Amino acid sequence: MTVPGRPRRSCLAVPGSSTKMLGKAQGLPADQVFLDLEDAVAPLAKADARKNVVAALTEGDWAGKTRAVRVNDLTTQWTYRDVVDVVEGAGPHLDCVMLPKVRDASHVRWLDLTLGQIERALGLEEGRIGIEAQIENAAGLVHVDAIAGASPRLETIIFGPADFMASIGMRSLAVGGLIPGYPGDPYHYVLMRLLMAARTHDLQAIDGPFLQIRDVAGFREAATRSAALGFDGKWVLHPGQIEAANEVYAPSQEDYDHAELILDAYAYATSDAGGRAGAVLLGDEMIDEASRKMALVVSAKGRAAGM
Ligand code: GLV
Ligand code: MG
Repeated sequence: MTVPGRPRRSCLAVPGSSTKMLGKAQGLPADQVFLDLEDAVAPLAKADARKNVVAALTEGDWAGKTRAVRVNDLTTQWTYRDVVDVVEGAGPHLDCVMLPKVRDASHVRWLDLTLGQIERALGLEEGRIGIEAQIENAAGLVHVDAIAGASPRLETIIFGPADFMASIGMRSLAVGGLIPGYPGDPYHYVLMRLLMAARTHDLQAIDGPFLQIRDVAGFREAATRSAALGFDGKWVLHPGQIEAANEVYAPSQEDYDHAELILDAYAYATSDAGGRAGAVLLGDEMIDEASRKMALVVSAKGRAAGM
């Protein structure tokens, strides 16, 4: 299947406490930016970060980018003030609110109701601001199906590997890459689980960060694994990771061209002129209705990437 929505091949983390980064991010070729009020911002800097984020959204030039703000999680004292200040201050300039460490559907419903109240109070279009839910603990993973169906505002399910690894007691400090001593991909189950929940509700699935920012080859390998499963994009923590993400989560030119060929050949074969065939040979490849659906996925991802 294809999941329409905003492009999110590269989702750039921008600390809300850094006015320098908030300025620089505007000129970078990331599909999405998320201005962070959570873990990249120290507790004593949270209040100022809210002001910086509101100013950056209202005064900055984010043309062509999806604009999200990550608020603090619902076990803290900061979440409600984050949401109220950011949406009251910059609602019309904001596409999504990202909620971290979601444990169950009630967290998403709280945000949905709160956004609705602020939209009504301000006379903003109701339901326009979307929600992105980060799954980064065992409870969130166990409840992910209910979370993914908790609000029509939901646009993405995001994996948060660092917090997730800490939450389940995973004995590694290497976030995003393979784990020495484990003979396989330790994230395979989690990624597939998130992807199934996301696709059940027509949401995008986004892979989390890769912390070794100078190891672009390692980033590319990790991104290639989740892109192969069907993930739509990945977080980037540094400008040096953006190009790799934009490339990896778009199909190769060869695959895109082949998909277009399948679509054309199948459309002809099933028509009156083509003899109303259900399955036909394209070169040495047997194609049928399922091939058409697979080709549609590749074609849609390619078009979204401007191919
Ligand atoms: C991201 O928030 C993570 O915990 O990996
Ligand atoms: Mg986290």
